[in-house]
Amino acid sequence: MERLIRNIVILTGAGISAESGVPTFRAADGLWEGHRVEDVATPEAFARNPALVQAFYDARRAALETVVPNPAHIALAQLDQAWRGNLLLVTQNVDDLHERAGSVRLVHMHGELKSAWCTACGACHRWEKPLADDPPCPCCGRAGNLRPDIVWFGETPYEMGRIEAALAEADLFIAIGTSGAVYPAAGFVDRARAARARCVELNLEPSLGSERFHECRFGPASVRVPELVDSLLA
Ligand code: APR
Repeated sequence: MERLIRNIVILTGAGISAESGVPTFRAADGLWEGHRVEDVATPEAFARNPALVQAFYDARRAALETVVPNPAHIALAQLDQAWRGNLLLVTQNVDDLHERAGSVRLVHMHGELKSAWCTACGACHRWEKPLADDPPCPCCGRAGNLRPDIVWFGETPYEMGRIEAALAEADLFIAIGTSGAVYPAAGFVDRARAARARCVELNLEPSLGSERFHECRFGPASVRVPELVDSLLA
């Protein structure tokens, strides 16, 4: 007998924002092609060359002003608004397209471009402007301590307790537009399987962990995501 779906966990990666014009990481023309991870996405890189790291994220933050949510973000927001059971959207993306589409039950496990973190006082602030000019922290007033609120390689993703709890109760796990190259997110499918959830992958092509999903539907997120949401809300 098919299991009744009440609790849904959705994981999104860079592929869901690709059709909005945000580059993915591992494509031939992706973000990591122009930059070495070790130069811009580790705490050591920031300690070594803060100006380079701030410039990299300042450019990505500014680029958000030129993009808008696509039908995949919008469909997930509609699902969030209509779904009466538990739902958690976990994104690895640091863009703000899910919230701009209207998603509320949302976790940014890898941080957010539009957030700045003061390493002196620990406060986090909504941040739309550049950080390269070392602005003072609005909380403690000290300059030179604000860094992008991004989870770099070697750092611990946000809200893992909440995510693990949701996965342990999941009836349906959906991974969208992620290559399955980066843990712990790449292991969520195993947590969901252990909870006996049905696991569905939506991606342009098979991810590294495709065979761990019960079902894979390939194609652009702007098509595959609205299709799946329609079937869940039918
Ligand atoms: N629709 C659906 N999937 C797509 C689309 C699209 N239009 N375009 C690309 N994809 C797929 C690619 O085939 C690929 O499998 O999205 C995936 C993107 O993979 P990555 O570039 O590796 O991005 P992601 O999985 O989100 O990376 C995870 O790695 O670098 C770190 O912290 C960074 O959060 C990021 C993490």
